Amino acid sequence: MAIPGTVRAVLAKLVADLDYPMYIVTAAAAGERSGCLVGFGTQTSIHPERFLACISRKNHTMGVAEGADVLAVHFVSDEPKQRDLAELFGGETGDATDKFERCAWHEGTGGAPLLDDVPNRFVGRVLERFDLGDHVGFLLDPVDADEADEGVHELGFQEAKDIEPGHPA
Ligand SMILES: Cc1cc2nc3c(=O)[nH]c(=O)nc-3n(C[C@H](O)[C@H](O)[C@H](O)COP(=O)(O)O)c2cc1C
Repeated sequence: MAIPGTVRAVLAKLVADLDYPMYIVTAAAAGERSGCLVGFGTQTSIHPERFLACISRKNHTMGVAEGADVLAVHFVSDEPKQRDLAELFGGETGDATDKFERCAWHEGTGGAPLLDDVPNRFVGRVLERFDLGDHVGFLLDPVDADEADEGVHELGFQEAKDIEPGHPA
């Protein structure tokens, strides 16, 4: 059943006014790296620890993430260097740009690319992939984690929504 236009318009406004944290999710597989800015992410279980990261099917990241055993989830703060990385990973597409040539990173657990300037992050093993519509949900089992910056303020959707996505969703 088609959603009435009014429902779609009201929902679009309601979600546009929400605030929620931004993540940069990175992946590596078959010698290729990719990553994008993600707002659709959430913890889904406490015991066991589980986290869902949702990637648009159209993104370059999707093509790499579907072949990856692990994903790295970076918790982006509103500090200027990290905001710049949010712009790089949210505003450029790996179809046209090698984002990893434009930032400092190293290989982490399971080969996941870890961004040096976003030190709060974890690596999660992909347990399942869910069809969620135009996004795919990657259910992650955390296998490694770093917390270098305590008490930083997260970069929220309201501060990031002016970034023009590198890929239409
Ligand atoms: C505020 C904001 C939130 C976003 N949230 C998501 C998201 O949850 N999932 C996703 O796949 N892309 C999301 N994007 C879009 C991608 O980050 C963007 O299109 C990126 O350029 C894709 O890069 P890629 O083609 O290299 O994967 C978001 C972008 C912005 C600006």
